[in-house]
Amino acid sequence: MRPQITDMHQITGPRQAVDLGRAHHRAATAFAHSHRTDGSLPVRQDHSALRAALAVATEDAIVYDLDGIGRQYATLCAELPGVAMRFAMKACPVDEVLGHLARLGAGFDAASPQEIAQALRTGVAPGLIHYGNTVKSDRNIAAAYRLGVRDFATDSLEDVVAVAEHAPGSRVFCRIATTGEGALWGLSRKFGCAPEDAPRVLGTARALGLVPSGLSLHVGSQQMTAEAWAVAIDSLAAVLRALGRRGITPDRINLGGGLPALGVLDRCGRPLVPPLSSMFTAIREGMERLRAAHAVPLHFLLEPGRHLVADHGAIRAHVARLTSRHRLDGTPERWLYLSCGKFNGLYEIDQLQYRLEFPTHPGGQFVDAVVAGPTCDSDDAFAQAGGPVRVPRALASGDPVWVHSCGAYATSYATRGFNGFDPLPCTSIGGRAHSGDDA
Ligand SMILES: Cc1ncc(COP(=O)(O)O)c(C=O)c1O
Repeated sequence: MRPQITDMHQITGPRQAVDLGRAHHRAATAFAHSHRTDGSLPVRQDHSALRAALAVATEDAIVYDLDGIGRQYATLCAELPGVAMRFAMKACPVDEVLGHLARLGAGFDAASPQEIAQALRTGVAPGLIHYGNTVKSDRNIAAAYRLGVRDFATDSLEDVVAVAEHAPGSRVFCRIATTGEGALWGLSRKFGCAPEDAPRVLGTARALGLVPSGLSLHVGSQQMTAEAWAVAIDSLAAVLRALGRRGITPDRINLGGGLPALGVLDRCGRPLVPPLSSMFTAIREGMERLRAAHAVPLHFLLEPGRHLVADHGAIRAHVARLTSRHRLDGTPERWLYLSCGKFNGLYEIDQLQYRLEFPTHPGGQFVDAVVAGPTCDSDDAFAQAGGPVRVPRALASGDPVWVHSCGAYATSYATRGFNGFDPLPCTSIGGRAHSGDDA
């Protein structure tokens, strides 16, 4: 009889079914990653269900553990009580993940009418979806308005005028630029106005019949410092004072995304260890400072993306080939080519490395190799800043490889048919207690 995992189901991607039959390898470690965030309690994440799913998969797939995502969501809500969560859809636009988060009470940060429509398909009320993209055409704004969205991020007079025309009476958030310092992806130039612009932007919104509802910011994705939040929140305090002098009293503050993944490595292959509990402290203290200084009660929102899904998604890939050859200068070098890379799941490999596990080679001799994806493109390789990765010498084509903590931005950045490589099929496990689906 074939061993079965009963709660793994294919959710997106090519029609090819993921074979859940034969287990290559028994899931060994219940708590896959365990490290300290800032000298306090170690962060322990239970990855036993995800590992079991990886172990029985015989074809390549991205696997999401909905219960793991749910635990991460619950922890975040407990750390920041009273903060409304709007999941940043771009981090994982997978219906099952969105549906699970919606059932747990999350709303959504959407960046296009298409994302808004996908969010609505979860059954969430339009009031729990905001249009968080400051970049939008007239047509985009009108479509969002027709879909029921009434909250729009903005950062320019031109955009405010368009929102007033195509989404009359809506609420607007003015996004304040941050430096992005301390983050792997700063997001610092494309979005957000200087604090000094905010009174003009929200003053114009009010004059045009919009509600100058709030301020927003983003400290940069995979932010690694607590100070980034303290500094950014203090800049909001100054903006609130300037707005108050013009009689504008927003009542909502959107602190954006930026909270980090916990199980990834930097470009040199060293564990990235974010000071998570200090970050939560900085956010809580910052919220208190803003509340104490503001004339009306303030409500807070967060747009977590990466932090909720990164560590609860993993890829089951396989070895294309381990090769050895010489560089032009005569240096010998091994390359490990995987069946997944930058264009089908691992887009972020230029800024970070993922933990790789070779379940059929738990021991034996290890060698250095440069790790790369399957396409005929030289960008499709791990950053080599810190040198090669240690891999089993005996790896053979077809051997399974598990890529951990790659759940964020894996599906959204996947290209279609680059060199003929399709996006990986996507599956999820868990989430049944909430979905009521026990088929
Ligand atoms: C407006 C907005 N909010 C939230 C996020 C999510 O950021 P993160 O994944 O770093 O939490 C992003 C990502 O770029 C974003 O653009």
